[in-house]
Amino acid sequence: MNILENVDLRPFNTFGLNARARFFVELDDAAALPDVCALPCFNRAKVLWLGGGSNILLRGDYPGLVVKMAAKGIRETARSDGTVLVEAQAGEIWHDFVRHTVALGLNGLENLSLIPGTVGAAPVQNIGAYGVEVKDLIRSVRCFDLDTGRFVTLDNAQCRFAYRDSLFKQEGRGRYVITAVTFALSERFEAKTGYGDLAAVLAEICGGRPPCAADVAQAVCRIRRAKLPDPQVQGNVGSFFKNPVVVAERAGRLAAAFPDMPRYPQGDGSVKLAAGWLIDRCGLKGRTVGGAAVHDKQALVLVNTGRATAADVAALADEVCGQVRERFGVELEAEPGWV
Ligand code: EPU
Repeated sequence: MNILENVDLRPFNTFGLNARARFFVELDDAAALPDVCALPCFNRAKVLWLGGGSNILLRGDYPGLVVKMAAKGIRETARSDGTVLVEAQAGEIWHDFVRHTVALGLNGLENLSLIPGTVGAAPVQNIGAYGVEVKDLIRSVRCFDLDTGRFVTLDNAQCRFAYRDSLFKQEGRGRYVITAVTFALSERFEAKTGYGDLAAVLAEICGGRPPCAADVAQAVCRIRRAKLPDPQVQGNVGSFFKNPVVVAERAGRLAAAFPDMPRYPQGDGSVKLAAGWLIDRCGLKGRTVGGAAVHDKQALVLVNTGRATAADVAALADEVCGQVRERFGVELEAEPGWV
């Protein structure tokens, strides 16, 4: 195993923050995890398991070991009654995996096209976009359990998925290292186009013929490219905040005061609000602190204009939360984790 020291982490975090890892290992075979745990530089409390680095913010140099989960591999594991189980290793690039399944004629992941990150990171925050969450497609998650030193398979229910949340962000944090994910995809295409302007863009692409999963993927990519900054061009971690969920009574009062405010009723009486709209309404699009800025096309995204420091990002995030709290009485919660 090749253990590197003092490694520049800028290429490994999509916000492009400047930091170094004391030790760094790239793991291309999950079976070697027990060996990683036996390394002299391994200290369970000081290890960062890294996927695509698209949902983390580095406060500074990392004093311990960073393990980049890089194992690749995709295989069909079962097929019956129109359902196809596909297992992908944690290090697969998410968008490449989606494209691969769509090209194979397998349906289900097309709405999740172009999300940055890796397959192994997808279950952690239950990635979601355009009316689909990855929990709807996950059959099971293969993990290395650091408590027992054994590999385990957790089924969908055991992963306790919720909106941008899971076991892996809660009680299981620091315990389970995700090594592979099995998805239940479908031979049959069923368009999910209820979200925003997806149906309109899809109609434009298809021009009258019936859509397929590849068309939906193309429509999603078009919408995302128009609104969301490309991390290769301008550092970012996608949505910086979760969309806040408020009780019905508060949502009602806000709706009376702001009739055009987007609202997504959750079924249990609570209502999800659009954090991007709240931030936008505070006039914060384009606001900068040092090298960090609120994106000018999607206020939910903070970007690195070139030389952002962790302090710039934290100060800007505080300002955004403060203004939204003052104007709307709503608390925003950051989506990426500070490391
Ligand atoms: N809006 C504004 N101004 C803005 C941004 C949004 O008025 O600057 C309004 C929009 O017009 C729309 C509403 O807010 O009425 C929602 O906006 P949008 O459809 O762009 O989605 P979002 O709620 O801001 C969520 C996800 C995104 C995902 C999109 C599409 C979260 C935290 N974010 O954003 O996920 O791509 O829906 O499904 O749930 C991510 O998690 O990194 C991410 C990009």
